[in-house]
Amino acid sequence: MPGTSGERGPFPEELPNIRNPKSEIRNSVEGGQAESVDERHRTRQFFNLVAPAFHVIDRRLLPEYRRALEKLKLEPELSVLDLATGTGTLAAAFAERGHTVTGIDFAARLLRRARRRLPQADLRLMDLADLPQLPDDAYDVVALAYVLHGMPPQMRRFALCQARRLARRHVLVFDYSGPGRWYVRLIEWIEGPHYPSFIDRPLAEIAAGAGLIVEREEHTSSMGTCWLLAHSDEPSP
Ligand SMILES: C[S@@+](CC[C@H](N)C(=O)[O-])C[C@H]1O[C@@H](n2cnc3c(N)ncnc32)[C@H](O)[C@@H]1O
Repeated sequence: MPGTSGERGPFPEELPNIRNPKSEIRNSVEGGQAESVDERHRTRQFFNLVAPAFHVIDRRLLPEYRRALEKLKLEPELSVLDLATGTGTLAAAFAERGHTVTGIDFAARLLRRARRRLPQADLRLMDLADLPQLPDDAYDVVALAYVLHGMPPQMRRFALCQARRLARRHVLVFDYSGPGRWYVRLIEWIEGPHYPSFIDRPLAEIAAGAGLIVEREEHTSSMGTCWLLAHSDEPSP
């Protein structure tokens, strides 16, 4: 499939689909500038670097994802695309409920753990910037868990527009809905500069910019929420 790749070697420095002239900007399908290649490169390096500590985050998030999916009671046997799947924690929670999961992430070390955890799932080393290569309405559900807060506003909009285009039924977002504790703020500060602008704006407003409306909202922890989104009646932005 175009834009995807298996892992080659222990930690591929470059994905084949990331060209690396400094400061190249890749345009989104909507024509806006999404996120610089340099910034995505830094983000990918950050996540590969912290991969050995991810089991701590997995242990915390898996029960939240399980509880949220239990409450949402989505239709059975859905096809799910988990964007920025990381070590596949949300993908695992979906798979446990009998859904068919495809996961995409550009951090090879995290994806390797996801593949060990979910050998039956389709897990692809791929940059979200290449989502326009996937066909419309390809999945029942498109999920984004704890990824939007780390992106600049244009890339958030791009990712949600793509999720809307790819999803036949639902877009599901898990993320921060308020300021986290000091250690969360510290980790997010190390990850990059975008977390404060994310928590300052209601998710409903961000989603509206991508032609999505909030159907349901469930708090998953003191600082996290899950939003079930649907296509709005407004024409696609
Ligand atoms: C905080 S982790 C969340 C992982 C997973 N969704 C979870 O809930 O455990 C953010 C993930 O986004 C991925 N990511 C960020 N930007 C990406 C991009 N442009 N393309 C693909 N993956 C991306 C990172 O590699 C990382 O795995």
